[in-house]
Amino acid sequence: MRYLNSYLAFGLGVSFGALAKECTTTETGEEALLVTSPDQLDVFEGCTAISGDIVIDSSYSGDFILSGVTTFAGNISTDAEDPAQDLGSVELPDLVDLGTINLGSVVNAHLPKVEQAVDIVLVQASSSGEVDLGSLVEANNVRVQGSWTTINVASLKTVNQVAQFCGVSGCGIYPDTNPPFISVDLPALETTNHLEVAGTVESVSVPNLEVVGFQEPEIAYVQGLRINIQESEKDLDFDAPKLHTLNGTLEVYGGVSGLSLGALREGNVGVTLNARAPLNVYSTLRTTSHFYLWGTLESIELPNFVDLGSVSLAYEPRLPCNETLYRLWQLVPGSSDPNKCTEIEV
Ligand SMILES: *[C@@H]1O[C@H](CO)[C@@H](O)[C@H](O)[C@H]1NC(C)=O
Ligand SMILES: *[C@@H]1O[C@H](CO)[C@@H](O)[C@H](O)[C@H]1NC(C)=O
Ligand SMILES: *[C@@H]1O[C@H](CO)[C@@H](O)[C@H](O)[C@H]1NC(C)=O
Repeated sequence: MRYLNSYLAFGLGVSFGALAKECTTTETGEEALLVTSPDQLDVFEGCTAISGDIVIDSSYSGDFILSGVTTFAGNISTDAEDPAQDLGSVELPDLVDLGTINLGSVVNAHLPKVEQAVDIVLVQASSSGEVDLGSLVEANNVRVQGSWTTINVASLKTVNQVAQFCGVSGCGIYPDTNPPFISVDLPALETTNHLEVAGTVESVSVPNLEVVGFQEPEIAYVQGLRINIQESEKDLDFDAPKLHTLNGTLEVYGGVSGLSLGALREGNVGVTLNARAPLNVYSTLRTTSHFYLWGTLESIELPNFVDLGSVSLAYEPRLPCNETLYRLWQLVPGSSDPNKCTEIEV
């Protein structure tokens, strides 16, 4: 109940020009504005810039619309423990600059003009809905989870920490999860510190991704590339044709049938490949801190590898040994594994 009186304490800031009106969610020193119903947003009528935080109460029911607001410096969030289950669409049609939006349950999120943000966290409440972040260029974190029909992040170029796209909330793989499977199209993404795609995902496209892992991670160990996909009739192919630098970890789990990293040159990466679909691997990687190849494998070609650190091989089934497999097995001395290559078969 600590927000009880906050919304009454809403105050207007300085007005700077005929059209611009700066508003605050609460008066100085107050807690965030707690909104329990859509009509409370009427206090922002005419505001073009808002500072302060808004918490959407668990009991909130309906859409959340702020028209005419171009700047929101602060945090719009649902209750962290008990997100509003009846929150419908969040419509911020004019917003360009955003601090943070953190919605633990939402149906549609239309923020078509937002160009930059600190953190964006959107968890789908139902079995369908749209994310429109079509103008977003840069953010610190972008986390989108759940059964979205469309996720528009067509301009997103830089995610300084975590870019996460999951077909289920929580980003796990759950055996009983049914479609829809989400499509993750990141046509403009060039740089991120961590990219995760997980759960019910049917396709991933990262044609311009060049660097994954370029600065100290905010959360220990969260740096690199993680692909953890729900198995389905159509397994996922992950191809990052321009990715030249990868630091952190490279993890591939579940229904992944293709991993192609044909431009890798630089980086410091620990690799774990443990796919359930027969996986086809092609990478120009040169060095790794460890290289664990487990799960189901169909083919592997690592033409440029020099030093893989500690190597563990436990893939299935037995495969004809090519140059790569032969060289990998040389790095596992004394193994009695029947898969072991003693000569290159052709
Ligand atoms: C925004 O609010 C959410 C929910 O209360 C919280 O988890 C998050 O840390 C906040 N973010 C910022 C940047 O204040
Ligand atoms: C990432 O890898 C590059 C190339 O090896 C290296 O120069 C850079 O320092 C690394 N960055 C981090 C944060 O590990
Ligand atoms: C071995 O490498 C070749 C390319 O050199 C590739 O075409 C083939 O599929 C690979 N075989 C296996 C079993 O990985």
